Amino acid sequence: MSVLAIDAGTTGVTALIVTEDGRIDSRGYREFAQYFPEPGWVEHVPEEIWQATLAACRTALDGASAVPSCVGITNQRETAVLWDSATLAAPRPAIVWQDRRSAGVCARLREAGHEPRVAALTGLRLDPYFTATKLAWLAEHDRRSWSAVTSGEAVVGTVDSYLVARLTGGARHVTDASNASRTLLYDLEAGRWSAELCELFGVPEAALPEIVPNHGETGRTDPAAFLGLDLPISGMAGDQQAALFGQACLSPGDVKCTYGTGSFVLINTGSEPVRSEAGLLTTVAWQTPSGEITYALEGSIFVTGAAVQWLRDGLGLIHTAPESEALARTVPDSGGVVFVPALTGLGAPHWDPDARGTIVGITRGTTRAHLVRATLEAIAFEVRDVVEVMTGDAGLRVPVLKADGGASGNDLLMQLQADQLGVPVERPAIQETTALGAAFLAGLGAGVWSSADELRKTWNLDRRFEPGEQDGEAYARWLRAVDRSRSWA
Ligand code: G3P
Repeated sequence: MSVLAIDAGTTGVTALIVTEDGRIDSRGYREFAQYFPEPGWVEHVPEEIWQATLAACRTALDGASAVPSCVGITNQRETAVLWDSATLAAPRPAIVWQDRRSAGVCARLREAGHEPRVAALTGLRLDPYFTATKLAWLAEHDRRSWSAVTSGEAVVGTVDSYLVARLTGGARHVTDASNASRTLLYDLEAGRWSAELCELFGVPEAALPEIVPNHGETGRTDPAAFLGLDLPISGMAGDQQAALFGQACLSPGDVKCTYGTGSFVLINTGSEPVRSEAGLLTTVAWQTPSGEITYALEGSIFVTGAAVQWLRDGLGLIHTAPESEALARTVPDSGGVVFVPALTGLGAPHWDPDARGTIVGITRGTTRAHLVRATLEAIAFEVRDVVEVMTGDAGLRVPVLKADGGASGNDLLMQLQADQLGVPVERPAIQETTALGAAFLAGLGAGVWSSADELRKTWNLDRRFEPGEQDGEAYARWLRAVDRSRSWA
């Protein structure tokens, strides 16, 4: 038996066929376009996400040794999508999680004194990152699309919901608890949509998807819509929660960091939602079919891999992202250069949508190698910032960090990370843990695996990076540079 896992990330869709013994049988990948119509705005075209999903799945299925028995979905979270419930066509672009356009909505609600109540209900904060602020912006600025929502012709959701709608030919409008917990509309402790928050953000509850557990059948793919296949959709989760699951971080205290477009550090806190006063988010990790919720504390860093991408596409300093490691190794350090990659504002633990990318310490001796090295160092510093809050403010222990995602293949970055944290960093043999997590959830839901414990056995170590000397001065410089990047826009 095998599972088809669809990972609809921020820049592309990965499809994996995962076998019963946790091996990857085949894979497909398709990128889709990013649109930046104004400074601070980031959009996707939903139809392009769907076409990329079809293409990636077709490639994975063509290379598979057998037809999979179920489908799992994982996705970029928080991105707001709106579509016609009858035709499934999206009348406007999706507003991506990185998009800052709803900063004004947040400022207004904060001034009106709503932040403490919103944070208490959701475990989140008033930041443009979250879906409800984007929907509130739409209600104000795209009256035409929004009137279809209020009249019941159109529905709203995140990318998971949109994909389920497309996969099932419109039969299901659902989201899972982990994705719901990122919208600012979900009551974290009650485990359902909050009528109070729907009213505050002006979102009709009837337009929202039904919330389902993270494993168990929630619908079937429609052969007419999805490559002739009739398969159960039996697992869903937001990509960071799926990675936590895929890293087998199944016990309280287990912690992982996924290095993707951004980097997201999540620690499993078990059945208790742990709150942080210093900039971390409390979120649902997953919910079982019997309703038990496992929570996580999360540090969301918006731009890490995207900064390397910017060196490549924006500046042309490197040709490929992996080249960054070889170039950074040609210099012993960044030569005093500090790059704060606040390209879409700053997320955890600073939460400043008006921060902007800042490079300080440039001299005539600065080369592209220094700038590339400063970028890798920045990723390690950003992760240290959130881990310090986890261990300080939240009082949790982080004895080891499990790393995954594209940039975890960068040995220099992993070593810098271990040095900065002062704890070992462990990289698993399979670094596509996000898709693997979705496969595990779907396989649990469809009976391919019988317990989460079985999944622990599939986790194998690739390499452990032991901490070396911690460069305290470099970290102090970083903190000064972060201050300079703030409140710029
Ligand atoms: O919260 C945003 C996150 O889900 C995006 O993840 O992997 O596409 O950077 P990624």
